[in-house]
Amino acid sequence: YVIGVDLGTSAVKTVLVNREGKVAFEASEAYPLYQPKAGYSEQNPEDWVEQTIVSLHKLLEVSGVQPSEIEGLSFSGQMHGLVLVDTEGKPLRNAILWNDTRTTAQCRRIEKVLDSKLLSIARNRALEGFTLPKILWVQENEPELLEQASLFLLPKDYVRYRLTGDYAMDYSDAAGTLLLDVAGKQWSTEIASAFNLPMTLCPRLVESFDEVGTLLPEIAEQTGLAPATKVFAGGADNACGAIGAGILSEGQTMCSIGTSGVVLSYEERKDLDFEGKVHFFNHGEKDAFYIMGVTLAAGYSLSWFKDTFAADKSFDALLQGIDQIPAGSNGLLFTPYIVGERTPHPDANIRGSFIGMDAGHKLEHFGRAVMEGITFSLRESIDILRGAGKTVNEVISIGGGAKNEAWLQMQADIFNATIVKLESEQGPAMGAAMLAAYGSGWFPTMQECAAAFIRPAKSYVPNPETVAVYDGLFALYQEVYGQTRGLND
Ligand code: XUL
Repeated sequence: YVIGVDLGTSAVKTVLVNREGKVAFEASEAYPLYQPKAGYSEQNPEDWVEQTIVSLHKLLEVSGVQPSEIEGLSFSGQMHGLVLVDTEGKPLRNAILWNDTRTTAQCRRIEKVLDSKLLSIARNRALEGFTLPKILWVQENEPELLEQASLFLLPKDYVRYRLTGDYAMDYSDAAGTLLLDVAGKQWSTEIASAFNLPMTLCPRLVESFDEVGTLLPEIAEQTGLAPATKVFAGGADNACGAIGAGILSEGQTMCSIGTSGVVLSYEERKDLDFEGKVHFFNHGEKDAFYIMGVTLAAGYSLSWFKDTFAADKSFDALLQGIDQIPAGSNGLLFTPYIVGERTPHPDANIRGSFIGMDAGHKLEHFGRAVMEGITFSLRESIDILRGAGKTVNEVISIGGGAKNEAWLQMQADIFNATIVKLESEQGPAMGAAMLAAYGSGWFPTMQECAAAFIRPAKSYVPNPETVAVYDGLFALYQEVYGQTRGLND
């Protein structure tokens, strides 16, 4: 067996995976999120460690598997969160998370100071969620803490440090800090020195599948795992989600619709230029990359809609009549910018809209229009990939968007690509387990691990007539952003 630990924003999930890639058991423990001020989002790193230990202990207890049968474990982690530790490895303050938006001023400072170097070295735009803006916020607002800091870590790296006693950060997570030379796979001295940050703040860089140690004796005792259990570095949740969906070779793309929505594509060429329109990060596989576009409120738009207008209905009941409504929802169009947007418009101020309302529209039309609007937003990311010369003929659909037949067909028709649904889907936790399986030598390559672990269940082929209807509507959809900008400023 191997274990995948997915350190999420609301909970940690652990899965025990056998040699056939089947999840034998899983466990999950939640922890609190602190939002002391508008835009602030923090967690106590100690909570992650405690709950990871509890979850691992439960996993072992429920499964009844002998500790000696577990060869290794690895991690998937919420990206970008800043953990500053002192010389003893103690966190100096709560972690500032990926969804904390206090750092707009620091982002503007980064853009001004680095100018074109930001895209040529870090390969990404400065977004509030990323780590460097958070370090600069501490530098400006809590300078005494930064002076005491001996290292900065990302969430899963801190948990791994507490489990093994070893400090490290893998490339896929380091890519989300804005301090990494993404193509060169090394910390950028140029970026660090531009902000007077000592290089000693940056931890040792490793590959996601590298073994970084074994469990500390007290952790082995608390979890019930064997002290010899190998610990592999692990990766960013998006990299692990991609691995868990088998996105491991050129031409493979996935669409994940959860609270937010992600279009992610494998990329081998390190010099491809997307002008910062999409994220460009190191993958969990050696020397590979992935490109990612994000719709901030994907599933969240649908749950907002249900909670606001159909709170008495279940999701199933709300979505039931949706396949009876024609493509285009009889002229009703929705833009899913209810909390701002990331791709293709990095705009925190834009807000959503319903356009084309008719007295004949019923709840089902609105429900379908919301799903179409979310999918149009994801199509914008697909078009950026295609515009850069990538072929997107097949898309693996995962998350909430893969649970509804009508939505799967809608993705096929809006993306004009075959949509593949997987047999069983465990998300980033499975990707983490696969890193441990590959790291343990179960397979000669990650691709072979994916071939053995991941099975397609069903395909959805685009219908040319519906594709044409959606192409027309998508052109209108794209105009709405410019026309509604400024409404909420
Ligand atoms: C990626 C991002 C989120 C977090 C969620 O850039 O901010 O997907 O990784 O954990």
